[in-house]
Amino acid sequence: MACSTATMALQVVGLLLLALTSSVAASTVESAPSVNKSCVTGSAGAAVSIGYGGARASAGAGVSLGADVYRAACPRAEDIVRAGVERAVAADPRMAASLLRLHFHDCFVNGCDGSVLLDDKPPFFVGEKTAVPNANSLRGFEVIDAIKAELERECPVTVSCADLLAIAARDSVVVSGGPSWEVEAGRKDSRTASLQGANVNLPAPTSGVTTLVQKFRNVGLSAKDMVALSGAHTIGKARCTSFSARLSGVGVSAGGALGASKDLTFLQSLQQLCSGSSGSALAHLDLATPATFDNQYYINLLSGDGLLPSDQALASPSGAVPGTDDDIASLVAAYAFDASVFFQDFAESMLRMGRLKAPGGGGDGEVRMNCRVVNSSS
Ligand code: HEM
Repeated sequence: MACSTATMALQVVGLLLLALTSSVAASTVESAPSVNKSCVTGSAGAAVSIGYGGARASAGAGVSLGADVYRAACPRAEDIVRAGVERAVAADPRMAASLLRLHFHDCFVNGCDGSVLLDDKPPFFVGEKTAVPNANSLRGFEVIDAIKAELERECPVTVSCADLLAIAARDSVVVSGGPSWEVEAGRKDSRTASLQGANVNLPAPTSGVTTLVQKFRNVGLSAKDMVALSGAHTIGKARCTSFSARLSGVGVSAGGALGASKDLTFLQSLQQLCSGSSGSALAHLDLATPATFDNQYYINLLSGDGLLPSDQALASPSGAVPGTDDDIASLVAAYAFDASVFFQDFAESMLRMGRLKAPGGGGDGEVRMNCRVVNSSS
């Protein structure tokens, strides 16, 4: 079958499925044909034509974001970040995932302001690195340091650490084969951090769909943003401690207990991996294509192979949350059937997440010289 015909056929099947209820969608797609990835548009770093279109988006610290911010002030800024990301990922393929996650954990705590990068300075300053979702888990700080040092040599005190995270996140997606978009820049770095904010705002892997939706709504993002951005789990790894509830069935409303899985082999292999480990053993978030940014994450969810309880919960029959704009399980099915739909929505949601600001605007921001420490004390 020709590529375009196959794609069309899949789209028709997808549309038919989407017309059904979420529970029907969740159970029917199992027998649907697998996605022919060679037909997917927007793959291998192709630009998705969305994002900054001349209007300036409002961001934290009273600044507005734009795509051309560094064109005059630091024309090579994006090249430097991209080269740094490519170098880091070549040395450690998991780094793409780690850098993408850093931007998420930055933006969910008082907006995208580089606060996640600040080091603790006991007893004077407590940052976010020891928060439960971050401790022994976030990585990539040295990569950010190296890129920042290069940026400082090229154009001192010009490119903020928050912008560096946003650009590195996009480049990490692109280098992994995902969509590209024009990053909006112009963020300022905070002079504060919030350990409590990191503990409260970031979703937990044991969260059910209602809580996940609520955590995203709390920062101004939608249920659809939550489903699309969760697709970041198409790359990277998680520790056993993050998905132990998936093995025992505790804290999972549906689709998560071992007995409820459609893929016992998958969960049994995880049990084997984690048994006897201290909880720090690592599993791929996407067991099928672990280092490729594609829509395989959603295909996994449909066959019960989501790693985190919070992942698998998206495909469970209880995925329809009253009051959400989109039926969660139907979105999962749509992304599983058409990678280009996922790529488009992911890029749009990344732009929306990148615009998050602190309640009240963020106060007095700066461009940190060293991402680990505010300027005045460096
Ligand atoms: C929807 C709620 C989410 C929850 C509950 C969640 C939770 C987690 C957890 C528990 C891990 C594994 C941490 C570990 O074991 O050390 C993880 C990894 C990861 N998360 Fe999420 N996450 C969510 C959303 C997101 C979003 C929105 C993004 C980015 C846009 C993202 C990107 C990643 C990546 C790329 C990794 C792998 C990191 C690595 O390998 O270093 N996550 N997430």
